[in-house]
Amino acid sequence: MQLAKDSARGQWVEDAVMAIIVLADPGEPDHGLDGGRAVQNMQLAAWIFGVGSGLFTILNEDAMRRDFKVPRKMHIAAVVVFGYPERKISGEKKNRKPLSETVHLNEYGCGFDSKSLG
Ligand SMILES: Cc1cc2nc3c(=O)[nH]c(=O)nc-3n(C[C@H](O)[C@H](O)[C@H](O)COP(=O)(O)O)c2cc1C
Repeated sequence: MQLAKDSARGQWVEDAVMAIIVLADPGEPDHGLDGGRAVQNMQLAAWIFGVGSGLFTILNEDAMRRDFKVPRKMHIAAVVVFGYPERKISGEKKNRKPLSETVHLNEYGCGFDSKSLG
């Protein structure tokens, strides 16, 4: 598959059912945010129907532009790859950082603690 060849660290796309190259227009304000929103919305919508996904951003840009005729003016935000999970996935705990490390209350550096909301 051409997409697998053009990816630098996403060769796993080879086994996918479908992949979407998400482009964003750098001429538009907040195009990075738009690309991210498009990616996540597609991933969430797919998951509702039991379709899993992953994304890759590390790619061979020149090759991808050439092979998929991506115009120079567009930024390649990500490639979102879809497929059916090999096993049932439900209720698995992710190893996430605690909110106190990632959310700041009132000012940066003041770790959020749900108890401080009263
Ligand atoms: C912004 C971003 C870029 C990523 N780029 C790559 C990539 O180039 N190659 C890769 O193998 N995985 C990449 N990943 C990781 C996987 O696509 C995916 O996040 C991982 O399989 C875990 O899935 P989860 O984030 O839904 O838990 C990236 C993830 C994010 C969030």
